[in-house]
Amino acid sequence: MGPVGREKNLLIIGSGGREHALGWKLGQSTRVKSVFFCPGNGGTENNILIDDSDVDKLIKFAAENECDTIVGPEIPLGKGIVDQFLSRGLRIFGPKKAAAKLEYSKAFSKNFMKNLGIRTAPFAVFSSYKDAKDYVRAQNNELVVKADGLAAGKGVFVCETQTQAIKALQILMFDKRFEDSGRKVIIEKKLSGQEASYIVICDGNTFVPFAVSKDHKRVYDDDKGPNTGGMGSYSPVEGFDKNMEREVIKSIIQPTITGMKRLDSPFTGFLYVGLMIDKENAIPYVLEFNTRMGDPECQSLLVRMDSDLYPYIEAGIDKRLHAMPPIRWKTQSSVCVVMASKGYPGKYRKGQEIFGLPSRATENVAIFHAGTKKELPNRIVTAGGRVLCVSATGQNLDAARKKAYATIRRIRWGHEEEHYRRDIGKPSGGVSKKDGFA
Ligand code: AMP
Ligand code: GLY
Repeated sequence: MGPVGREKNLLIIGSGGREHALGWKLGQSTRVKSVFFCPGNGGTENNILIDDSDVDKLIKFAAENECDTIVGPEIPLGKGIVDQFLSRGLRIFGPKKAAAKLEYSKAFSKNFMKNLGIRTAPFAVFSSYKDAKDYVRAQNNELVVKADGLAAGKGVFVCETQTQAIKALQILMFDKRFEDSGRKVIIEKKLSGQEASYIVICDGNTFVPFAVSKDHKRVYDDDKGPNTGGMGSYSPVEGFDKNMEREVIKSIIQPTITGMKRLDSPFTGFLYVGLMIDKENAIPYVLEFNTRMGDPECQSLLVRMDSDLYPYIEAGIDKRLHAMPPIRWKTQSSVCVVMASKGYPGKYRKGQEIFGLPSRATENVAIFHAGTKKELPNRIVTAGGRVLCVSATGQNLDAARKKAYATIRRIRWGHEEEHYRRDIGKPSGGVSKKDGFA
């Protein structure tokens, strides 16, 4: 039994730091009784023992427990979990399969943007390795090669030379590192500028914005090494002012929501726009759409969020977002540092016991688990690439960084097998010149 007066049960699908943070925030709602996770991780309570790909069982659980379901990751969205829940009359928050295509097919989203005149890097799509290679050879600007389908943030290669671009094509189309996701590739012009993540919550017709945030995708300090799912994040973002926000809403968010409605695929859920803001003329370009909350952006956003999150999820499901007030944010800044297993995003060890986790909550610091598992009697062990997300708030970014790193320095596993970036929350000033190859 949850606290008296609270009436809602929630089921959160996913196992990452994002899902732990969503559950942490939603669990504080005066409206929420219990939060269940499937599969959850070593840091989440109430993990239900159902295979998370068994949608029929999830539906049965959500129906029996009268849950509103919230989907964290992109894979179940791309498989149509929302359509299945809705067809059984259940309440679920996230896009239907047709709308999730904005993320699971980069070719679809690039063509969608092109048709609507939404600014994005010039691009071409290829299914033939030979045609793609000929195209690369004919270009004289720096290129980015991307898998069309989902690749957990690792299917993008930022290239300086034609040789690197051709190597990327080989990895995707020949070696099939991401299987079918790399059957089609997108080759686009490399843009430069300042990156930011702009996330809004949508109900198909309208939207309410979150604060702006930014993630650090490369595995090593100074934006070196391969892209990962995200090594850290912070909020707000220097230089992203009200004028920029208005421009992003007018030229990207509104046309996207209207455009999806016109395609008969209204977008409900978290819409995440990865932006590259041109430094010279301050024009925002779309690097990518994600059809869910960012990970690890979520872990720095929710610790800054003052408003109750649940009413926005409820209004999203009920198509009442137009009646919701803007979300209130703390004036403080936040920083989330991801602690990963050494070797990530390549091979790494699992099953290492984690020591030094604080036994009590520390003021202004939250630890969200990702790749962890609880073992009896009371051990937490590593179980994935990204292991823990340490989120801290402070008067400014520097203060938040200091708090996050002070906590991190006490946490360890294996023989110094924890890896984290030392420069999270330090503005990097643009994309790195280094390539994305390991
Ligand atoms: P995406 O998954 O498409 O957002 O790409 C992942 C990361 O690759 C982005 O956050 C950027 O750091 C980088 N990237 C993607 N596309 C481009 C581009 N056209 N120019 C420069 N960097 C890019
Ligand atoms: N942080 C990037 C993502 O969630 O895709």
